[in-house]
Formats: sequence, structure tokens, C-alpha cells
Amino acid sequence: MENLRIMSVFGTRPEAIKMCPLVQELAGREGVESLCCVTAQHREMLDGVLEVFGVRPDWDLDIMTPRQTLATITSKCLTGMDGAIEALRPDLILVHGDTTTTFAGALSAFYHQVPVGHVEAGLRTYDKYAPYPEEMNRVLVSNLADLHFCPTASNRENLIREGHTENLFLTGNTVIDALKTTVREDYRFAAEELNRLPYGEKKILLVTCHRRENYGEPMKNIMLALRQIAEEDRDVELVYPVHLSPVVREAVDRYLRGAPRVHLTDPLPPGEMHNLMARCDLVLTDSGGLQEEAPALGKPVLVLRRETERPEAVAAGTVKLAGVVQDDIVTMAQRLIRDREAYRRMARAVNPYGDGQACRRIADAILWHFGRGDRPEDYCP
Ligand code: UD1
Ligand code: UDP
Repeated sequence: MENLRIMSVFGTRPEAIKMCPLVQELAGREGVESLCCVTAQHREMLDGVLEVFGVRPDWDLDIMTPRQTLATITSKCLTGMDGAIEALRPDLILVHGDTTTTFAGALSAFYHQVPVGHVEAGLRTYDKYAPYPEEMNRVLVSNLADLHFCPTASNRENLIREGHTENLFLTGNTVIDALKTTVREDYRFAAEELNRLPYGEKKILLVTCHRRENYGEPMKNIMLALRQIAEEDRDVELVYPVHLSPVVREAVDRYLRGAPRVHLTDPLPPGEMHNLMARCDLVLTDSGGLQEEAPALGKPVLVLRRETERPEAVAAGTVKLAGVVQDDIVTMAQRLIRDREAYRRMARAVNPYGDGQACRRIADAILWHFGRGDRPEDYCP
């Protein structure tokens, strides 16, 4: 029997963190050739993750440009993918989540009539512009995909409701697989500044922010809220690894830099980030991935958005929507900083997103689909 050629396509930091463990799982399977094509929609932030996981791409489209638009990302991915597919001749293409790389990767696979497996399928807000452009990317990719790997039961229900009833697999999220390889109690940070933070003595707040729908007024409000939180509580240290996007950097420089008790750093490698999250007290973020990781580590999250496609941790009580209005963010954060009981109620470790076995289930499901093994059991939280 010939080897199955399975090509994972990704391009941004979160896709890499969530796909590298799967690339490795597939590489360890008999009868599988695990191929990796990166679009490099992110450059530095992608390369840092590839290095940590020791994944070497077979193909690199190297598309990133400063302040890239959705149209340039899409068109460069599409034309670049032609070469990758012709050279690597995959039997299946895997894409992840909801970025522009995800959409263009799936569309390109369709143009070449190669089946598509969608990892992290079925997340929805049902609001076309929030998150933007991710919600539309997800919907489009669900229509292009042949295999759907759903992290949670409600993700699977979304797809069934939309008429996608075949080849749905309930797997958990691969981010929890990744987290299991990075978090260690005796971890020492490469960045000395992070070793010196007063863990346990002061409240350490970990912040990230990058979403396109937050550009402009919402991002300004978020930065001003962070400034106010740091200014009004001496008991707080705020750590913020700033995304490399120039739009984000401008907002940070304008409204937050120079505030007391605020530590601005470059983006951190995933090991540093995950261990910092494990030691911090509270997470404020508009990130998708952090909403999944922090609950697994028992850290309360305030989401700097108006909606979320990840309702499971909200239901479990560890994540709350704070919105993008300055006063609301400040009030909710200060309550958690100052009210021990309110904090305690939110700081419970829950694992609605996975058990660390998602990659195994996805690899099993792929082999089953090609008639080479048993169908995996469903993930059950
Ligand atoms: C992208 C995804 C978003 C995902 C996020 C994760 C799209 C449209 N957006 O948003 O879904 O949540 O990644 O972080 O797919 N840059 C660098 N170096 C890097 C990375 C980015 O300089 O390593 C700068 C570049 O100027 C680039 C800009 O950041 O043009 C924006 O990057 P882009 O991928 O377009 O958008 P993100 O906000 O990162
Ligand atoms: N992350 C990281 N270093 C950072 C910020 C985030 O390694 O400085 C990780 C984070 O732990 C998570 C992922 O990047 O695994 C989330 O990426 P991001 O917030 O950029 O994208 P989203 O999840 O919102 O798509």
C-alpha cells in the first residue's frame, strides 16, 4: 500500500501552535507521509513556533508584507499554493481554524480537487463581522471541507444545524495537546524580566490584543482601560506581549506605553507564554487561543470583545465577556483584583476544550477515512 501524503497548511502563530503537534503525530504514523506547507502569513511569529516544535516546512510561500490586506494575503496564498500542491501531490490537505490562510488553503485544495480536512471546525458567532474576517472564513471553509474535526459537541451541533452531517469527528482542541508539552512547574523563563515578576505577591495580569474588528476606537478604549487598571492599583503588574502588527503597536505606543506597572514585551515563544499564563492571576484578551488555554490552567479570563465563539468556558464560569468599553473593562477587572470571593469563583480549572488526545483522534479519523484503521472514540469532557 502506498503512503498517504497528508499536507498540513498553516501560516499564523496560533495555527502553528495548534497544528505542529498534529504534524508530528502524523509523522509518527505508519503509512503516512506528513508534509507541511506554510504560507508565512506571519513571519517572525510563525518561525518562533516552528523552532520550538522542531517542525521544518517542506514548502514556504513566504507571503507576509507589512500592513498586508485581506485581498493580498488571499491572492498570494492561492497562487503560491498551486506550486505546493503540484510539487507535493497530497492525498489530503489539512487546514486549521479561521484565518485567511485557512480559507485560501481550503479553496486552493478545492481548485486542485484534493480533499480537505478542517481542524477546529464548527466554531460560530453567527455575526458576519465579528470576529472579522474569521467568522466568514469558518463558514466558507466548512463548505469546502470533506472532514470536520470539531473540538466540542456544540461545535459539532453547529455544523449539523447547517446541514454538514457527514464525516464529523469530535476530537477536542489540539491546543490542549500543545499545552501539555509546554507547561512545567519548574520552568525558568528565558527572559529574566519574567523570572523577576512578583508572582504570589502582586496580581499579575496577562494581556494580549490584536483582532481586526478592534482596530480604531475599540482598541483605543482597551488600551486606556489597561492604563487605568495599572494606574489605580499598586497591587497590580500588567504584562503585555505586544503583537507585531503595526496597527496594534501604534495603539500601544499612543495610549499605554509609559504607564506605571506595565511591562510591554515582544511576542513570546509559546513555552514562555504558556508558563507565564500558568503563573499569572488574570488574563485579559481578545485572542481565541487564550480563551481555551487559560481555563485549562485555572486562570479567569476577561474577553475584550462583544461576543465569543467559545461559549463553553463562559458556561463553566471561568470566562466573561468584558466588551470594548473602557469603564466596563475597568470595573470588571477591578472587581476580580479587589474582591477575593469574586476571583475565587472564576479561578477554577476546567477543561471543556480538550484532554490532550485531539491529535491522536484526528490522525485515527484520517486513517479510518482512507480505510486504514478504526474510527476513533468521541472526545468526552
Ligand atoms: C491574523 C489572523 C487572525 C489571527 C491572528 C493571530 C487573518 C485575516 N487574521 O491576524 O485571524 O487571530 O493572525 O495572531 O487571517 N506581522 C509581522 N510579523 C509577524 C506577524 C505579523 O510583522 O510575524 C505584522 C505585519 O505587518 C502584518 C501584520 O502584522 O501585515 C498583520 O498580520 P495579519 O496576519 O494580516 O493579521 P493578524 O492581526 O496577525
Ligand atoms: N501566544 C504566544 N506568544 C504571545 C502571545 C500568544 O505564544 O506572545 C500564543 C497563545 O498562547 C496561543 C496563541 O498564541 O496559543 C494565540 O494566538 P493569537 O492570540 O495570536 O491568535 P488567536 O488565537 O486569537 O487566533
